[in-house]
Amino acid sequence: MFLLRTVGSTDSWCLSMFSEFPKLNFRFVRLGPFLIAGLIFLSSFNSLFAQLQWDSLTKKYEAKPGETNAVVMFHVTNISNVPIVVEAVRPSCHCTVAKVPAQPWRIGPGEVNPMEVTIELTLKWGAFSKTISVETKNETNLLTVIVTVPEPDARGKNRVVAFTDRQAVFKGDCASCHLKPAIGKTGEDLYRSICAICHEAERRAEMVPDLAQLKVPTDSKFWEQSLRIGKPGTLMPAFSKPFGGPLTRDQIQSLVFYLTGRFPSRFPAVSIPSPAR
Ligand code: HEC
Ligand code: HEC
Repeated sequence: MFLLRTVGSTDSWCLSMFSEFPKLNFRFVRLGPFLIAGLIFLSSFNSLFAQLQWDSLTKKYEAKPGETNAVVMFHVTNISNVPIVVEAVRPSCHCTVAKVPAQPWRIGPGEVNPMEVTIELTLKWGAFSKTISVETKNETNLLTVIVTVPEPDARGKNRVVAFTDRQAVFKGDCASCHLKPAIGKTGEDLYRSICAICHEAERRAEMVPDLAQLKVPTDSKFWEQSLRIGKPGTLMPAFSKPFGGPLTRDQIQSLVFYLTGRFPSRFPAVSIPSPAR
């Protein structure tokens, strides 16, 4: 904080000195060293007024694979002998949220307060930093979190993309494997080209069920529903056009016909008794 204030003020001084430079005469230039000494004095004088002291201005966070949030704690001490009110806490992006103890945030003399910073990591890989500016009437403290997120392999990345939008499989590059092979196909051919890629993959993912072993009764209605709408909140996309999928009604009907024959229900259909009158 001290450093930032110092750098900040020196910078602006340097800039204004520089822009004035052509107008300065030679004798004035020789005063340069004195001016700089004066500035250094001024800035340390400045920091004497600092009222907030942080446990650290920069923190590092190393995310584990698949982690969706980085949570980092900062602690701040009011080192002055007057209460301080924090007027603004401004994160550098929407993906960063700072949780403060109270609103308005008032820190008594000598008091230590926490500030919890949460950074959303979805679809972010590699190293990056986020800042949070904490402003009082007298000072601006810039806090930095440096985050590193291990880069997943291509399959892991695809999954993250699909978790944020399960229809993504039909868009952009994904379509070359997950959509194009289905064009113009029906029935078993269609199943082989667009369903088996996930459901009968040699290295089938643990969240993708074996359609022959479903734990629910299956009938044509079930298949049709699963195909048309998919399963919101999972990686199973919707395949019908009205729900953002690529398949026509006829294609869906042909699939339903194929699936009911290929995967007969393992359970008797549940009949719902009509209410007694
Ligand atoms: C080169 C062909 C290809 C491309 C391109 C492709 N996928 Fe896949 N995808 C597959 C295969 C094959 C599987 C079956 C699992 C395996 O063998 O990796 C699969 C499986 C999946 C799964 C099921 C979960 C899993 O890990 O098995 C999801 C979700 C998925 N892909 C989403 C996507 C998304 C989203 C994109 C585009 C960002 C995409 N895929 C691009 C071939 C591809
Ligand atoms: C991108 C990979 C992917 C593709 C392609 C895919 N599925 Fe799925 N499917 C899943 C996942 C993941 C689930 C598990 C959802 C869950 O968590 O319950 C699932 C679940 C299902 C279920 C069970 C639904 C339930 O209510 O339990 C059915 C039925 C199904 N898929 C049929 C199909 C058919 C038919 C196709 C081809 C038209 C298909 N899937 C294509 C990933 C895929």
